[in-house]
Amino acid sequence: MGLQFYTKSLLSILAILFLLYFAAKQSTEVFREVVHTDAKANEARRGNDNDGDKRAVGIRTDVNTEVQTSQVESLTTGSTETTSTTATTNSISESFKAINNQLVDKYDEEMLAQLEIFVSTQSNITTTSSQATTTHSNTMYQESPEIHHVAFIKIHKTGSSTAQNIFLRFGVSRNLTFVLAHDDLSLSETRYPNVISYSNSLSERNIVSPPDGRGYDIMCCHVVYNKENFTRIMPADTKYIALIRHPITRLESAMRYFNMFPNVNLSDFAASPLTYDKGKHSMANNRMAFELGFPLSLFPNSYTQVNELDRKIEASAYMDELMSDYSLIMINERMDESVVMLKRVLGWQLKDIIYQKQLVAKHETRRFSETDANDLRNYLYLDFALYERAVQEFTKQVANAGDDFVREVEYFKMVNEKVTFFCGNASMTSLSFDRSLWGDPFEVTRFDCELYKKPEIKFIQHIRLRMYGTLNN
Ligand SMILES: *[C@@H]1O[C@H](CO)[C@@H](O)[C@H](O)[C@H]1NC(C)=O
Ligand SMILES: *[C@@H]1O[C@H](CO)[C@@H](O)[C@H](O)[C@H]1NC(C)=O
Ligand SMILES: *[C@@H]1O[C@H](CO)[C@@H](O)[C@H](O)[C@H]1NC(C)=O
Ligand SMILES: *[C@@H]1O[C@H](CO)[C@@H](O)[C@H](O)[C@H]1NC(C)=O
Ligand SMILES: *[C@@H]1O[C@H](CO)[C@@H](O)[C@H](O)[C@H]1NC(C)=O
Repeated sequence: MGLQFYTKSLLSILAILFLLYFAAKQSTEVFREVVHTDAKANEARRGNDNDGDKRAVGIRTDVNTEVQTSQVESLTTGSTETTSTTATTNSISESFKAINNQLVDKYDEEMLAQLEIFVSTQSNITTTSSQATTTHSNTMYQESPEIHHVAFIKIHKTGSSTAQNIFLRFGVSRNLTFVLAHDDLSLSETRYPNVISYSNSLSERNIVSPPDGRGYDIMCCHVVYNKENFTRIMPADTKYIALIRHPITRLESAMRYFNMFPNVNLSDFAASPLTYDKGKHSMANNRMAFELGFPLSLFPNSYTQVNELDRKIEASAYMDELMSDYSLIMINERMDESVVMLKRVLGWQLKDIIYQKQLVAKHETRRFSETDANDLRNYLYLDFALYERAVQEFTKQVANAGDDFVREVEYFKMVNEKVTFFCGNASMTSLSFDRSLWGDPFEVTRFDCELYKKPEIKFIQHIRLRMYGTLNN
């Protein structure tokens, strides 16, 4: 009896020591490529995402070994309540600082120095080009000054990391100020320095004040849109932009990425989604509409008394408001047209909208059948209404953009392909493009290639260092 007790205690102590060692090890190996399925499950349960930098997942979630099992369970049952203890929060906080400390290593100092040179070179280029006149027939392009105040609503699993990179590069190249989440866990709402909130809108509490003497220019991190809060915090002339995707492929992508409902038969899910998706603001439940701030009373799970017709009328009224507040809702399935439209709407340069895909999904292994997709229309009615309406608006916007829009898109595709080739071939040092009907001549360097592929967390922390001279703020 006594011996057995001793053995048990000894084993427990060994287990604890092992866990502590494991936690410490994880916190130092912050940028190693580690992706754990249960880490992702953990993020999904919390409504988290790590778009653009899977490497960071390792440190912030794996420390929580003891809660993972229950997290996977609660994910499949759809419960959303967080149960993390103070102890785990502290160790996460430590490892959070560890990433930041590692960011300022030698490589990053060089990277930051290169960024400074990049910023001063770019500001020289843009000062001259804004004075240049173009012989362009499209009035929208010719007359619009370069817009610096932009809010991009970055919606989960819509291809938004790829698009966000455009906004990050633009802001850095013009030395602009970004709206950033706190990266000190005692102040931030999430464990990611690139996520302001998963369920709330901007507020004075969840963002860092702008640097002295500056105002905010660009907002492009994950946060829920709310007109009142955004207009209170962003400049009055801010242009609003979003990116959406077909609701079914978005759902498939979210289910894979967050490892949601892993053991549920998809047809069963489609026939009765609410049986499985019990979470309040889950990554499955009309997430695009949720992040675009649709009234909560309209969401399946939340509505109780309101009849279907009234709900549809209210959704439609909210959508009217969105369409008038947003300058552009980009469509994932029409990405090239979307970024060319972005260039026109914001008066930006062709070089600014170059993109190289980030986080490209592998072929989806769990796909809904046509019947399933049809069954899901009722559940995803907000996302479908939003998507269909936005596609309609976008098509109209393209039709009104003039004849040469199609040609500009073709030209842009050619440029983007050349850049892909250039970035993939290390023996080429730079790539030049002549003046075209759609813009000034420009050059793509190897440093630009680094920026296209730069993981968003790292990019944002470098921006933070440039803006504030410090991390952990
Ligand atoms: C960027 O902006 C900061 C703050 O206004 C300023 O101090 C710095 O000189 C600017 N850098 C460049 C390269 O323009
Ligand atoms: C930018 O322009 C200024 C003034 O014309 C010049 O002094 C500076 O060297 C230029 N910077 C770069 C990186 O070309
Ligand atoms: C808007 O900001 C206020 C003040 O910080 C905050 O209390 C509120 O929760 C925010 N609204 C949303 C929808 O997040
Ligand atoms: C899912 O369930 C349907 C009917 O409920 C069945 O026909 C189908 O074979 C199941 N799929 C899998 C992969 O088990
Ligand atoms: C890469 O670029 C070099 C120099 O321009 C060229 O000689 C080489 O053929 C290119 N490689 C490939 C795989 O195309």
